[in-house]
Parts: sequence; C-alpha cells; structure tokens
Amino acid sequence: MDKEVILTGLRANNDLHIGHIFGALQPMVDMAVHHAGKYQINLFVPDLHSFTTPIDHSKLQDGIMNNLRIFVAAGLPLDNPDIHIYRQSYIPAHSELTWILDCFTGFGEMSRMTQFKDKSTKLGDDRISVGLFNYPVLMAADILLYGASYVPVGDDQTQHLEFTRDIAERMSAKFGELFVMPKSVKEQHEFFGKDQGLRIRDLMDPTKKMSKSDETGKGVIFLSDTPEAARKKIMSAATDSLENVQYDYSQQPGISNLLDIYKLLGGKPDEFIGQSQYGPLKAAVADKAASFLEEFQGKMKTIDDHQILQKLKVSEAEMTKQAGETLYKVQQAVGLRA
Ligand code: TRP
Repeated sequence: MDKEVILTGLRANNDLHIGHIFGALQPMVDMAVHHAGKYQINLFVPDLHSFTTPIDHSKLQDGIMNNLRIFVAAGLPLDNPDIHIYRQSYIPAHSELTWILDCFTGFGEMSRMTQFKDKSTKLGDDRISVGLFNYPVLMAADILLYGASYVPVGDDQTQHLEFTRDIAERMSAKFGELFVMPKSVKEQHEFFGKDQGLRIRDLMDPTKKMSKSDETGKGVIFLSDTPEAARKKIMSAATDSLENVQYDYSQQPGISNLLDIYKLLGGKPDEFIGQSQYGPLKAAVADKAASFLEEFQGKMKTIDDHQILQKLKVSEAEMTKQAGETLYKVQQAVGLRA
C-alpha cells in the first residue's frame, strides 16, 4: 500500500439513481481516469451491508452484478492495475476486522448514529437487526483495511466517516499505530471539489435528499427508469407559486434542484434565471435527463460481463492480500496472533 488510496462503496439493494452517479460514482471515475497511477482506486460493492434492512434475497446477485456494470458504464477503466473492483463478502477480513472493532465500540456511540435512528424508527422494534446497529463498524473496517485516505461520501454518511476516524484513533492510542487515518470531512470536500457534497433532492419533496429508499419512487430518477418515465417525473416535479426562476434553496428548493440537475446533466441553468414560467425549464431538464438515460442504458447493454468477472478475480485476490496484512497487524495487537 504505497499509493494513497481513494475508496468508496455503492450499495446494491435498491435501484441506483442519478444522485448516486453524480454524487459518488462520477468523482471516483474522474479520479480513476485522471489520476490512477498516482492513487490506488478502490470501488466496491458492500454486499454484506445490503441486508442490514430486509430485502428480497432472490434479487441480490442480480443487484450486485448490476452495480458492477454501472461502474463500467459510468466510465471506470478496467484495464488499469491501480483500479480495483470487488465484492466485500469475497474478502473475509471485512467481517473479521468488524468483530474486533465491535469490541472497542460503545453501545451508546452506535445508538446515537442518525442513520440508525432514522431507519430503525421506520422499521419498528422487531425488525431492527443487530446488523443495522453494527453497520458503521463494518463501514469503518471497509475503509481502514486498505488504509484509505479519501472517501467520497454524501452528507448522510459523514457521521460514519467521523466514527471511522474515532475508532482508528482509539485503537492506535491503545495499541500503537495500526491504521492510516482517513482525511477529515472538510479535507474530503476540498479534495473532491465542492460539488462532491452536492445532493440532488427529491423531485416531489425538494426539502429532502433524493433517496433510493423513497417508497413511491415518484421523486427519484432511477438509472433503470425509461426515458419517458423520467420525463414524466420531471414534468410533475414540485415547484412553487413565485413565478420567478431563481437559485435559492431556502425559498425555492424545487426550482433550485431542477437548476442543479440541469447543470449536472450538462445544461446551462443561467439561460432560465429570471423567467416567469417554469414549463420551459422543466422541459429542458426532462430532455437532458431522457437523453442521459438513453445513452447510459445503451452503454449498459454493451458491457461484457466476462470482462467484469475477470477483473473481479484479479482485484479480489489482490485485496485479500492487502486487507489480510492490515488484519494481521490488528490480530497481533489484540493478542490473537503471536
Ligand atoms: N454506507 C454507504 C452508503 O450507503 C456504502 C458504504 C459501505 C461505503 N461501506 C463503505 C461508502 C465504505 C464508503 C466507504 O452509501
């Protein structure tokens, strides 16, 4: 592990949407395209995280493969030895390090995690799993095993990144230097550029983030939506009655969100500022989204699964080695190995 590591994971349980592409995947792909050689790039599917809340297990394999295809369709080069794609469950060190870190993690500290509180309120007591409670510890292991410095995570994951830094610090204070300390949230934002934290909002409720777990799906543009369906969702996006296109998230979150989406899709939002009608802006965003999806889905069809499986084999062998070295150091530190 001589090169600095940039790492992220994209969960495979629900359909991915355009927020994932522009929020997490695109910054990784850009790094991979422009800076592989200088950095090691780890892009993985956290499959063990995918049933911390209940899922349809008959769809998991498909979901995992689909995520990997999405990485490639988004432009991730597979022919570079500094770029690694892998499935978390294929590298047992993730589970083993999680167990060890669990024993140094406070019950109270995990109970205070916002995402745990939010998700568990929705689920009700009987369906909250210990896995969901433990989710941030597995995520910390994902990051620490490879000594990752840079992790592009959305605002909803920053608390988990803070925890990763806390547990790394705690372990090192007790046992001596064990892990590379991931950069702070502020440094992450500086590194990835300010758009990295940008979160596309839900089209129906622009006060909240576009989220794959939205129940109706009406406010979310999934990568699997037909261009026509995406067009309809955008045309019925919630706006306001101010009759003035302005970029102002406090007064006009719906319009501001559409302007942001337009920009991410390559449009020039300035053209619409000051207009009194919302229809033309919506139509323009709808056009861009429809052609984006058409192109993306076209690419998905041309992807060669065989090539992905080949790459997984090589990456997973290499990652087993890298993760194994970190795990061994920790096992020695806690007295499990001589
Ligand atoms: N928790 C992340 C999410 O839901 C996915 C994830 C799992 C991850 N392990 C990670 C992201 C490690 C970055 C680093 O989006």
